[in-house]
This record gives sequence, structure tokens and C-alpha cells, in this order.
Amino acid sequence: MTTPDPVRVAADLRARLGAPRLGLILGSGLGALADEFSAAVRVPYDEIPGFSTASVAGHAGALVSGTLEGVSCVALQGRAHLYEGHRADEVAFPARVLIALGVRGLIVTNAAGGINPRFRPGDLMLIDDHINFLWQNPLIGPVRDGEQRFPDMSRPYDRDWQQLAERCALDEKVRLVRGVYIAVLGPSYETRAEIGMFRRVGADAVGMSTVPEVLVARTAGVRVLGVSLITNPAADLSPTPLDHAEVIAAGEAARLDFSRLLRRIIREAAPELV
Ligand code: HPA
Repeated sequence: MTTPDPVRVAADLRARLGAPRLGLILGSGLGALADEFSAAVRVPYDEIPGFSTASVAGHAGALVSGTLEGVSCVALQGRAHLYEGHRADEVAFPARVLIALGVRGLIVTNAAGGINPRFRPGDLMLIDDHINFLWQNPLIGPVRDGEQRFPDMSRPYDRDWQQLAERCALDEKVRLVRGVYIAVLGPSYETRAEIGMFRRVGADAVGMSTVPEVLVARTAGVRVLGVSLITNPAADLSPTPLDHAEVIAAGEAARLDFSRLLRRIIREAAPELV
């Protein structure tokens, strides 16, 4: 099944949402940030063509628009994953809709396992770069309007926004580490040997999302900032078997730091989003 035309879906949403300037994709356990929006409008995914109902615990499954720190935002509370059986273009479709709504920038967030031994559960990691170990790409197929055939990926995450985020973390006294995110297919967690390999190829954190959305944003020329919440030590560092409940609990515990940092970043980035 092909996905609908994101421009038409966005046009239908615009009547209810207006014209948001910043898009946010909120990962496992991090959706609560959209509950802080003022003048919020919530549209459940099952009311939007082409959106898959998010089925994983910790994912609410709604598009929420509203104002945060004076910036009109639109957030995806929960996302579809490749491991649920969706194709990469289906997983990235909601991001295409945010782009069609006219957002000037996209903040992507996720839960991830810490491969770097210096990382602790609860740390926030600024995504420096990523490795697409999904071996799938939402840009496969005909080139869509406004997208490029061969987008540059030498720096997918905006350098100025990375600097801004690091400054905001210092000011807010939030520990913000920095590293490379490797996206894997899942849904099984990794073996110790796989994590050992990922560490040797330069990855600092591992998760099962985010890269498809970043690819559609970059091919459309939209600036991206990425933040991972380190929810657990990756398989070869973990004293106990990995468990999704641990991932959700870490999201809850880090919620205040995450919210403080994100709000500060949004406030400081506001002049660039006009
Ligand atoms: N591996 C993959 N994805 C994850 C992990 C992990 O350890 N933690 C949270 N998402």
C-alpha cells in the first residue's frame, strides 16, 4: 500500500492546527512534553490518513499542536516502527506531514541503550551523527515533490542547533552527553557480540527508530536536532536482562530534565524559526 499524499493530509490538518513552526517527534516515555503545550489541539492517529496507530506501551499515538515557550509546535506523541511490520516510508510518513505543514525545524527524540561505557541511564545524549543499520530507507521509490534524489548526509544534525543545545544544557545544569546513534531493526534487543561490534564501528547509543524521519527531513532541507534518552546500559554492559518496562521507567525519571532542556532549546531557537 502506498502512503497518501502528505501535502493533502497536511492541508486537511491545517484547518484544525494552524501553521506550526517547529515539529517534535517524542519517543518512548517522552510524550509528556506535549502535555505542556498551551492551547493544545490533539488529533488521535486513527483520525489521520496514513498514520499507524502506535501500539507500543509508552506511545500515546496522537498528533498534538500548541504553543510552547512562545513557539507554535506540532508534536508526534509516539511513532510507528519498522519492527511492527511497517515499511520505512510508512514509518516516516508522519514526519513528511509535519514538513508539509511547514515546520522550519524538527526535533527528534528517542529512547536508546547506552553503548558508551561512560553513559548512565537517565543521561540525555545529543545526537552527533547516526548510523543507518536498518538497511532500509524511506526515500526509496519515486522522488517526491520537494525532495532530492541523493540528499547529502555528511551532517544530518544541524551544527548550530547542536551548539545551542550544549549551551542550553550548561545553563540549565542538565547533563548532556554527545554521541553517535545507531538505528537497528529490532524488536529483539541486541546480543553482547552485536553491541561489541557497534562500539567498534563508533556507535555510542542504540535504538530502533529516528533515522527514517531524519532522512525525510534532510531531503526536504529541514533542520534537525536529535536527543536520545539513555534508558539502559546496552546488552554487554547490563547486569540484568533488558526489559521494555525499564525503558519506560527511565523516561519517567528523566522527564523533568528532558522537559527543562527542550523548553530552553525551543525558547532560544525561536528567533530562527520564523
Ligand atoms: N537497544 C535497542 N533499543 C533500545 C534500547 C536498547 O538497549 N534501549 C531503548 N531502546
